[in-house]
Amino acid sequence: MKRIHRPDPQTTIFISFIITLLLTLSLPTLQAKTLVVYYSYTGNCRAIANALTSQITADVLQIQPAEKGLRYEANNYALGTQLLNAIKANPNEASSYPAIDPVSLSLSDYQNIVIVTPLWWSQMAAPMQTFLFNYASQMAGKNVGLIVSSTSSPITGVEADCKRLLPGGNYYGNSLWIRFSQVPNAASLISDWLQQVNFSDNNTSDPINIKVSDGTNTIVYQLNHTSAAKALYAMLPFEVSVDNYSNNEKIFYPPTPLSYGSDCIEGDCPAGTLALFSPWGNVVMYYGPASRYSGLYILGNAIEGTHNIRNLTGTIRVEAAPPTSAVHSIKAHHPGQTPSPYTLNGIMAVAGQKGVVVKHGQKVLMK
Ligand SMILES: Cc1cc2nc3c(=O)[nH]c(=O)nc-3n(C[C@H](O)[C@H](O)[C@H](O)COP(=O)(O)O)c2cc1C
Repeated sequence: MKRIHRPDPQTTIFISFIITLLLTLSLPTLQAKTLVVYYSYTGNCRAIANALTSQITADVLQIQPAEKGLRYEANNYALGTQLLNAIKANPNEASSYPAIDPVSLSLSDYQNIVIVTPLWWSQMAAPMQTFLFNYASQMAGKNVGLIVSSTSSPITGVEADCKRLLPGGNYYGNSLWIRFSQVPNAASLISDWLQQVNFSDNNTSDPINIKVSDGTNTIVYQLNHTSAAKALYAMLPFEVSVDNYSNNEKIFYPPTPLSYGSDCIEGDCPAGTLALFSPWGNVVMYYGPASRYSGLYILGNAIEGTHNIRNLTGTIRVEAAPPTSAVHSIKAHHPGQTPSPYTLNGIMAVAGQKGVVVKHGQKVLMK
């Protein structure tokens, strides 16, 4: 008689854990995380929104006033002026804002929201103000970009309106001002701006790993997505000498100085932190903790070999490392103990981890 082998309960739990993990990891990544919202009366912002969406993957939402056929510029801009004055008089009253067609999509599905709006009398065009007034609560915590078109007036008033109406937005460092005369050249202005603000429409923020080795001691770092970390990655591979500094650092000078932007992050540096000390231009590998310091920008964290940092000597090779693709170890979850979140490639998330992680078997977006 054929003997049926029944797996013991521990094996069953283990197998179901693996299946759950594999199913979780194979879920489709969040789609269309960028939304471009525009309002356009005479077509300039529409052209700008088109130029933008030819460069990034995004859904597009056009704001439409509920009342059609209005002429905001007629009688020396009387209607446009009247709408803005009503908002100014009572900015907290919903009735101060001109009605717009309802928005049917779910704003909470998006991580990046780029607002493209005309300037009216140095303020944000009234219909776009209505959109922000009505839907701000769904956009709290989103990365928000602002592109403004005017004939010639500067856009600070529009930026102020945006922040008043959407105080919970995580704004890109700079807004983009595209004058009426520059609209034909919008594509290149947009492309420069996207680079400047380090726009990323990469949902999962794929990890960038680098390997540092003197031939005996090896460390793998996961870089963050700041401009300085990207500049370092762009230089690989290279060989340089490593030096001691203080009693907690190994340092090296990249072959050419690293460029860095306003997106770079300062913070305390526990052992394992990789950082750029921008006043001198050297890269620091911490094997003991250091406190936050002005101009000390975090580039990433060691994910393997932190204990090897203090032993590095002589010449080191710094090169790209393949993203870690396997789950390193699986520990049973003990009741009462909170399981640590993992990145999508099975690395335990570090403090302050951003992007999508797996927590309690669910994909969660960490901001
Ligand atoms: C009611 C109204 C007020 C405006 N006020 C200004 C202004 O104060 N300064 C300026 O430079 N342009 C002003 N403009 C021009 C628009 O900002 C500019 O033409 C913009 O590119 C229009 O974008 P659109 O074609 O997408 O509607 C105004 C336009 C309108 C309709």
